[in-house]
Amino acid sequence: MRLLLSLQSPPGAVQEAVEVALDAGYQHVDCAYFYQNEAEIGAAFQKKFGEGRLKRDELYVVSKLWNSFHAPQDVKPAFLKSLMMLNLDYLDLYLMHSPMGFPGPQEVSSPTPCSKQDQSPTKSSSTSLFSWQTMEKLVDEGLVKSVGVSNFNVSQLERLLSVCRIKPAANQVELHPYLTQPQLVEYCKSKGIVLIAYSPFGCPALPVPLLENPTVNEIAQKHGKTSAQVLIRFHIQRGIATIPKSITPARIVENAEVTGMASKPGALFRSWRMAEVLLSPEQGETLHTSDGWGLVPKPSCTQQDLNG
Ligand SMILES: NC(=O)c1ccc[n+]([C@@H]2O[C@H](COP(=O)([O-])OP(=O)(O)OC[C@H]3O[C@@H](n4cnc5c(N)ncnc54)[C@H](OP(=O)(O)O)[C@@H]3O)[C@@H](O)[C@H]2O)c1
Repeated sequence: MRLLLSLQSPPGAVQEAVEVALDAGYQHVDCAYFYQNEAEIGAAFQKKFGEGRLKRDELYVVSKLWNSFHAPQDVKPAFLKSLMMLNLDYLDLYLMHSPMGFPGPQEVSSPTPCSKQDQSPTKSSSTSLFSWQTMEKLVDEGLVKSVGVSNFNVSQLERLLSVCRIKPAANQVELHPYLTQPQLVEYCKSKGIVLIAYSPFGCPALPVPLLENPTVNEIAQKHGKTSAQVLIRFHIQRGIATIPKSITPARIVENAEVTGMASKPGALFRSWRMAEVLLSPEQGETLHTSDGWGLVPKPSCTQQDLNG
């Protein structure tokens, strides 16, 4: 089994987390230029390679093209910067972090650590299609094995598929029982695009955080697992890869122990769709599940709660 670890974590905590994860058998490491911690991850790789505990081909390393570097002339320098910081000579997968670019090429020099300017959502003067063509060339040059996207919806994928030379291998999007995105999941599966679910534990700002959801807790108790393990298993049963993030050694190990639960689809969760949260203020309800799974008790939150 390939274990996945996501690394959107504060600088300083990451190297140790990666070392713990690699020792625990994680292989897929999800990184991004934007997370500003690729040098620490690279240091962890270097250490484990040096100890002879790990070979490069046992790892599956992913990074992402940040939105400020969509201009064709910026794509390869941004990629090389990530590659250099990760101490690697190729990546397994390089994702376009988002379908939209930030500042235009004239405003962007070579990649430097992210500044406020990198993050400001100004209009892009380049399109994701030109960026994609440059990403395809990275594959031609043997610098990356596959290219993919993140945060793309169906119409954005359709547009890309209609012009691309190399098909996106993966689409990394937010997925969990509160946001099941059945249409996108079905579309990606029909096109052979691997889905990678981010934020598997949901958004902590929700009125009932997923990890505290009574139904998830109940399922966990029934199977002698934790709620986090149940939420990871949710994706595995659905045939979707997921990238839980933790910098806590005990949780890194815990998140990898997701076997021993029901393995057949539907055995743990009766249906993916029923876990989906629907907003229907007309009915005087803000959150309910599509067929009464009861993820969020109907009276427990109001639109006002949601609005903050
Ligand atoms: N492509 C994109 O645009 C995009 C957007 C958002 C996120 N992502 C990726 O997806 C990753 C995961 O998403 P996320 O960080 O939003 O959320 P997440 O993985 O759903 O949740 C992370 C939070 O859960 C905690 N946690 C981890 N394991 C736990 C456990 N076993 N029990 C209890 N709590 C646990 C972590 O705490 P500790 O770390 O303190 O243990 C952290 O606070 C990110 O790191 C990022 O790489 C990608």
